[in-house]
Amino acid sequence: MNRRGIGPSGGMEVSVVGFGAWEAGGDAWGPNESDERVVEAMHAGLDAGMNWIDTAEVYGKGVSERIVGKAVADRRDAAFVFTKVAPSSEGSGFRPDQVREAIRASLGRLGLDFVDLYQLHWPDETGIPVEETWGTMVALRDEGLARYVGVSNFDRALIERCEPIGRVDSVQNEYSLLIQGDRREFLPWLAQRNIAYLAYSPMAAGILTGAIRADHVFRDDDWRSGRRDPDEEHPEMFRPGAFEENVSKADRLGELAEKLGTTTATLALAWVVASSPNTLAIAGSRSPEHARSNAAAGELDLDPDVLAEIDAIFG
Ligand SMILES: NC(=O)c1ccc[n+]([C@@H]2O[C@H](COP(=O)([O-])OP(=O)(O)OC[C@H]3O[C@@H](n4cnc5c(N)ncnc54)[C@H](OP(=O)(O)O)[C@@H]3O)[C@@H](O)[C@H]2O)c1
Repeated sequence: MNRRGIGPSGGMEVSVVGFGAWEAGGDAWGPNESDERVVEAMHAGLDAGMNWIDTAEVYGKGVSERIVGKAVADRRDAAFVFTKVAPSSEGSGFRPDQVREAIRASLGRLGLDFVDLYQLHWPDETGIPVEETWGTMVALRDEGLARYVGVSNFDRALIERCEPIGRVDSVQNEYSLLIQGDRREFLPWLAQRNIAYLAYSPMAAGILTGAIRADHVFRDDDWRSGRRDPDEEHPEMFRPGAFEENVSKADRLGELAEKLGTTTATLALAWVVASSPNTLAIAGSRSPEHARSNAAAGELDLDPDVLAEIDAIFG
């Protein structure tokens, strides 16, 4: 699989497609079939060339981290582990003491002495200045508890507040053929600074795989149904009307994929990777078959004609 670097002079060499473990939490996409099946999916991805797994303290309130811990227990050398701390009240909180407590708890669940990348999951809205939190992240990196530190769901302005305190190694934001907001300005800006970009929901949470039809009924406990949490709005990509339109675009991507002898998901992931020299795709799954096929996307280079055809579909 093709690789790119995270950190100064590309210090950590990572596969361009990695394994996403939000699903493994078992509380947002319907329950896990079993821990063993999820571990099998992680192993399938690693065996097929992925060399990192992305998790978070909030995924299943620690369940995902525990499963990742099981998956890497006998193959730590083959897998970099990335996790995140979230603001209070969903997560541990962003005060320096809370972040320190959070990484200790995550390391305990993962069964590790250090993580390879520690990330702020989303900006704090409780009034804790990002400078204070970022100072602690940088200290954790200096102390060796995290080899690299990054942010998620951050924009340029927030990163510019962090940078004077210490280097931001990575940004993890939503990015796919359906959500291209970061494409034109943010990605080139990050590339100039050699900040890695980890694209989440690169297959638009399943829409860009061809596996979801327009008449699909999501389980009530699947966040995509819009019924999992009464406080949450119906997710935009899955809102009636928008959803059917998105599935129709995915169908057109599927036709192109067939012509090229590949799959819809592979093309969606390869497009994300082709978006900038510092982009990585986080492919979420609990299926060994899907993980294997997603890893193969990291070996596909798309030529300019194909990229133009894809752009014509997604405008
Ligand atoms: N930082 C953040 O705020 C944030 C937010 C969202 C996600 N993330 C991270 O990004 C990762 C990926 O994003 P995501 O999970 O939201 O969306 P995604 O990777 O775009 O899509 C995942 C969905 O696609 C299905 N799928 C995957 N590969 C497939 C294939 N080859 N064929 C058919 N279906 C396939 C999965 O089901 P199966 O299990 O059946 O494969 C799952 O339902 C997460 O796991 C998490 O690590 C971060």
